Amino acid sequence: MDRPTQEAIRSLALATAPRPRLVILTGAGISAESGLSTYRGPDGLYSDGSKANLVTAETFGQDRDAVITHLACWRDQALKVSPNRAHRALVELEAALGKAMTVITQNVDNLHQRAGSRRVLAIHGDLTGLRCEARRPHIQPWEGELQSEALCHHLIFGGLRRCSARLRPNVVLFGEPILFGKQVERAVTDCTAFWAIGTSGTVAPAATLVLAARLSGAETALFNLTPPGEESGDDSIVTAAYHHVILGPATETVPVAVNELLGACH
Ligand code: OAD
Repeated sequence: MDRPTQEAIRSLALATAPRPRLVILTGAGISAESGLSTYRGPDGLYSDGSKANLVTAETFGQDRDAVITHLACWRDQALKVSPNRAHRALVELEAALGKAMTVITQNVDNLHQRAGSRRVLAIHGDLTGLRCEARRPHIQPWEGELQSEALCHHLIFGGLRRCSARLRPNVVLFGEPILFGKQVERAVTDCTAFWAIGTSGTVAPAATLVLAARLSGAETALFNLTPPGEESGDDSIVTAAYHHVILGPATETVPVAVNELLGACH
């Protein structure tokens, strides 16, 4: 790591350390070095345009089987890989900060949870689960194949009946609201520092969270391979909302930032 990056990390750690209430927003870039493709960019999952159409609520309504098959393929890829040093560094940070830290992830790969993070709001859902279309708390593991007519077997009405609504992958499709909206709002408006890691900032509402954090007075940082707005060609106030930009692979920058912050907190 070059000296300017080290210095940028040190300055971020010093700005974050006083009585931190830290929100970490993650995107596909944090999982790239585990071996998963990101969405955008030349080799991204959406680079030919066709896959993006398969993750919309509209396509799901028209061709449920196609969307389930597609998501099952992503799930299989996600289950083949393991959390990396960046995921594990965030677990270490959570062990030190406890409730003063929340991870908000756009990722559906379950890698934060598998690494051991406990305070994770997976706002786009999680490919390892199925949920009932009628009752959101009826989540169950997604193992093996999912037939498009599979039904929820949870007991309802004090155990008198089976739920029997249809099951679907527990993933938020384009056109559907994010999960944990209220908790996200509370965490972001209450934080003193907001670090985004490995996200292009192109999908709302996650992309605008930095703005809400900044308006609430938080110190804001982006850890990414590319500067904010570069891929989207966007120079809006959202991309200008970062006080600190730390460029480099997340497995290198994030563990260093965590160490610096832990050192600065003591
Ligand atoms: P993108 O693919 O849009 O952006 C990934 C970002 O990670 C890019 O800016 C890369 O430069 C950066 N990156 C790649 N490798 C990296 C590395 N090793 N270290 C650090 N940064 C790296 O992914 P997201 O921003 O997560 O939504 O995409 C947001 C949402 O779009 C996803 O959650 C998904 C998708 O549609 C749903 O599934 C609902």
